[in-house]
Amino acid sequence: MKLTPEQVVFYNENGYLKIEKYFSDEEIEKLYSEFPNTIEKNSDRIILEDNGSIRSVFAPHFVSEVYNKLSRLERLVIPSEQLIESKVYLHQYKINTKKGFKGDWWEWHQDFPYWHIDDGISKPELVTIMLYLQDTDASNGALLLVPKSHKEGIAKFGKKDVLDEENKDKNEKTETKNYLSSLNSNIKFTVDQECVRDLATKNGIVTASGKKGTVLFFHSNIFHASNINLTPFDRDAILITYNSIHNIPGNTENPRPNFLVGRNYDPIEILEKDI
Ligand code: SIN
Ligand code: MN
Repeated sequence: MKLTPEQVVFYNENGYLKIEKYFSDEEIEKLYSEFPNTIEKNSDRIILEDNGSIRSVFAPHFVSEVYNKLSRLERLVIPSEQLIESKVYLHQYKINTKKGFKGDWWEWHQDFPYWHIDDGISKPELVTIMLYLQDTDASNGALLLVPKSHKEGIAKFGKKDVLDEENKDKNEKTETKNYLSSLNSNIKFTVDQECVRDLATKNGIVTASGKKGTVLFFHSNIFHASNINLTPFDRDAILITYNSIHNIPGNTENPRPNFLVGRNYDPIEILEKDI
């Protein structure tokens, strides 16, 4: 399955591309029913919200053949190769579960700064595919995007609020693992609010709503965010990031764990059949 030239132009121009009905209801059902098998108790791969609800499950393909197959599906890999203009390998894979009543926000950020600074990847030649497991709209925390912001390079970082002494203590005790500061609801590299305001005023904000089975391709430098989920309806989504095989991580002082940074740089082996 290939993207049309018009779809590629749209992505290059806007930094994202949404396609509805990319997966059938039966396929979504299969992925959804397999989801509990990806959750190992007390595993570092599972990231919790402050309220104890699951925020993200990283590397579901480590434990699930269905999820492993999904990441190799022709339908995902070929369009990614078209958008990146290179063979690709799997860089990061997660399921974000923005649970009804409990799911927390993602502040405005770009993904590339994490991969550049923390993982030593030089160029923003990565694409993420977000696959919706439920109907998703503004009310239950759909992704918000600023079109064309992927052309800005790495934008100025937002200034994080200074923690008061009491919270700082608490934070230091609970956050023994450095990498958590990229994954919880207080992520470390946000986009400066003035930059978001300027560009959103010029280009608007797109709410990436879609029924279950929709996919959203988005560029590693696009400004994006999502709201808390106050509805009773879960907003689970699978996010798969592919990187160019010519853009692999360099040496960094504190390499992040393998469940966050793919280290098999061979071009992904494509699965033609379905999951
Ligand atoms: C992300 O920015 O990585 C995901 C945001 C979301 O799940 O809403
Ligand atoms: Mn992100």
